[in-house]
Amino acid sequence: MAVIGKDILKAAQLLTEGKLVAIPTETVYGLASNALDVTAVAGVFKAKNRPTFDPLIIHTYSIEKVKEYCREFPSELEKLAKAYWPGPLTLLLPKKNIIPDLVTSGLDRVAVRIPNHPLTLELLQQLNFPLAAPSANPFGYVSPTKPEHVNKQLGNVIDYILDGGNCEVGIESTIVGMENGKICIYRLGGSSIEQIEKVVGKNVPIAIGMKINNYNDPSAPGQLKSHYSPTKKLIIGNIEELLKKFKNAAVLSFGNKKHNALTFNLSEKADITEAAANLFTGLRTLDESDAEIILCDYLPETGLGIAINDRLTRASAEK
Ligand code: TXA
Ligand code: MG
Repeated sequence: MAVIGKDILKAAQLLTEGKLVAIPTETVYGLASNALDVTAVAGVFKAKNRPTFDPLIIHTYSIEKVKEYCREFPSELEKLAKAYWPGPLTLLLPKKNIIPDLVTSGLDRVAVRIPNHPLTLELLQQLNFPLAAPSANPFGYVSPTKPEHVNKQLGNVIDYILDGGNCEVGIESTIVGMENGKICIYRLGGSSIEQIEKVVGKNVPIAIGMKINNYNDPSAPGQLKSHYSPTKKLIIGNIEELLKKFKNAAVLSFGNKKHNALTFNLSEKADITEAAANLFTGLRTLDESDAEIILCDYLPETGLGIAINDRLTRASAEK
């Protein structure tokens, strides 16, 4: 098992030596390495059992630093950066050669964000390199929102977990970039579509490639149809109807409805932001229960509800 602690100096030292350290962010825990050290980055892919066609997000602490890693910063994207960094927003920017091709899976753009977590921001300021950090879970499984989640699954392959408590947002960052000169969303996440559109001042479409029904192409990065998946089967629909059919089922619920089954409630007061923060803990808890199957229903499609429903759909997809 890895050591869990709050020692930023120790984390900085390990990362400088090319080792892997799990870091807290406001979205989910990341599995970090020196983004400029190809051998260290290769260790991240290996530890997660992640295919190298799925590129990594790099993390740094200021817009000036981001400009050291990209050739240009389109003005609409810079507006978003100024509005929401540090925060749950990742931008796709044309990369400079300093960023290894392994980080971007050979693509011309690098994904960058400034995370909003005091410990990690302090750590980033102490390093003279950015951190490449995917979510700290085995490839395809539910992302971690507590240090213990990381330790359970990756504790045997990393040295240290920087303990920043529970992740406040609880779902991954929203990814935004330009497609043929037009701004679009590549992954729904912790910044809502409303928040993005408020700053951009117009509708921001979802990139065609990531629409769930027509997408399961592993040559394009991320956003695979089956993702964020518990080991148990997850079925989405009317919970009371499903409970008639499935006897040994556990329920991931929302709001004040009561079900006659083992239940993890995402938010009793039906608060979508609270539900996002609890989503991955809920999926993990029920995945570890004695139930054979997990049932849930979609949340209202407002604010982070759209991103939560996207995660649920992918978690329920056939592997
Ligand atoms: O909130 C987050 O974004 C978390 C925390 C740790 O920062 N990180 C995270 O990383 O969710 P990961 O690796 O689990 O998901 C990153 C996704 C990839 O699957 C891919 O879809 C997309 O980001 N991505 C990364 N680089 C890209 C690129 N150059 N072009 C297109 N998509 C990219
Ligand atoms: Mg991930």
